[in-house]
Amino acid sequence: MKTKAALVERSAGKWEVTEVDLDGPRQGELLVKMVASGLCHSDDHLTTGDLQLGHYPIAGGHEGAGIVEEVGPDTPEWKVGDRIVMSFLPGCGRCRWCASGMQNLCDSGARTLDGTRADGSFRMSLDGQGVGQMSGLATFSQWSTVSVLSAIHCPDDVPLEVACLTGCGVGTGWGSAVNSAGVRPGDVVIVMGVGGIGINAVQGASHAGASVIVAVDPVEFKRGTALRLGATHAAATMAEAMEVVAPLTNGQGADSCIVCVGVTRGDHVAQGVDAIRKGGTCVLTGIGNMAEVGIPVSPTMLTLFQKRIQGSLFGASSPSKDIPLMLELYRQGRLRLDELVTTRYPLDKINEGYADMHAGRNIRGVIVHEH
Ligand SMILES: NC(=O)c1ccc[n+]([C@@H]2O[C@H](COP(=O)([O-])OP(=O)(O)OC[C@H]3O[C@@H](n4cnc5c(N)ncnc54)[C@H](O)[C@@H]3O)[C@@H](O)[C@H]2O)c1
Ligand SMILES: [Zn+2]
Ligand SMILES: [Zn+2]
Repeated sequence: MKTKAALVERSAGKWEVTEVDLDGPRQGELLVKMVASGLCHSDDHLTTGDLQLGHYPIAGGHEGAGIVEEVGPDTPEWKVGDRIVMSFLPGCGRCRWCASGMQNLCDSGARTLDGTRADGSFRMSLDGQGVGQMSGLATFSQWSTVSVLSAIHCPDDVPLEVACLTGCGVGTGWGSAVNSAGVRPGDVVIVMGVGGIGINAVQGASHAGASVIVAVDPVEFKRGTALRLGATHAAATMAEAMEVVAPLTNGQGADSCIVCVGVTRGDHVAQGVDAIRKGGTCVLTGIGNMAEVGIPVSPTMLTLFQKRIQGSLFGASSPSKDIPLMLELYRQGRLRLDELVTTRYPLDKINEGYADMHAGRNIRGVIVHEH
């Protein structure tokens, strides 16, 4: 069949909305009619060249939700009409990582950044040439064929336009606070960068009982939103944040700092490490240019103050446990999703959506697909 999809043709380009050919589902796969997709900053890294992929062209989008339109042969557990959220990382349930409660590190995620199947094949093509699918998904496509390892059932009463956010941004931010920072009741937490990811680190820290949550962002609209969604303080810079944190911690620093800056560099992490107390944790969730090396931190001071720098992929969550948890917390009114969507766009306006993200106008922009 044909489907309209947003592609990156080569590293450092822009989104081109083009009609591509889509193959139907094989065993263990689903054909999904995509309803909505969040405009996560990670897809933008494909167009800037910060993230270099193993294969071009690639159809973007990894934060999606939709409806099952066809089920591959011998594929139990799924039927036509099922509502699904797609996890940007697949989980096989059997590998060492899945069996150890680290499903986000599942071996089946190895192809996330080249967008091919485990056997190197493609389900999308353009003029006979294989087109990769970001995270194996391509949620910037009206229809897509995806692995059941990425599919999570969505309850009937959660709108797909907000459910899609749990496939990346919500779980990543929430888990960065709850799992990776291990926020405890009473903690003092700094969240650096409160876009689509950081705002959910604020929600996670609040859920875990932090007494002080300082949201740091140069954009006033982001700071205001963070204050409405659980932050106790807001600051435009880390220096300003330390003016809040120092007197509250006897000058010792925050228990944790979660770095969610859009284009993260080593010096952002160093600021996070400076901001935490002895034995504290700096969580690194943001992504930048993958060729860049180095964090300007004194190794000796890291030792003497016994600080921890902790990378975090999808908030160290297990998608098949944690996405249903996020959806349930939303149903209970304990996790906000509606408030995260600033603007909705048709697929044709995807470059406008990303321009709005760069201009600081969106917490999250969401593509709502037309069919
Ligand atoms: N680790 C993971 O699993 C994972 C998953 C998804 C996204 N990400 C990455 O997380 C990062 C954030 O993504 P997003 O979708 O929230 O992006 P976003 O653009 O919505 O938000 C980034 C925020 O950082 C702010 N910012 C920029 N410079 C800053 C600074 N010096 N100090 C404080 N704030 C600053 C921006 O104003 C913006 O509000 C991206 O790098 C993205 O690729 C990581
Ligand atoms: Zn993402
Ligand atoms: Zn696995």
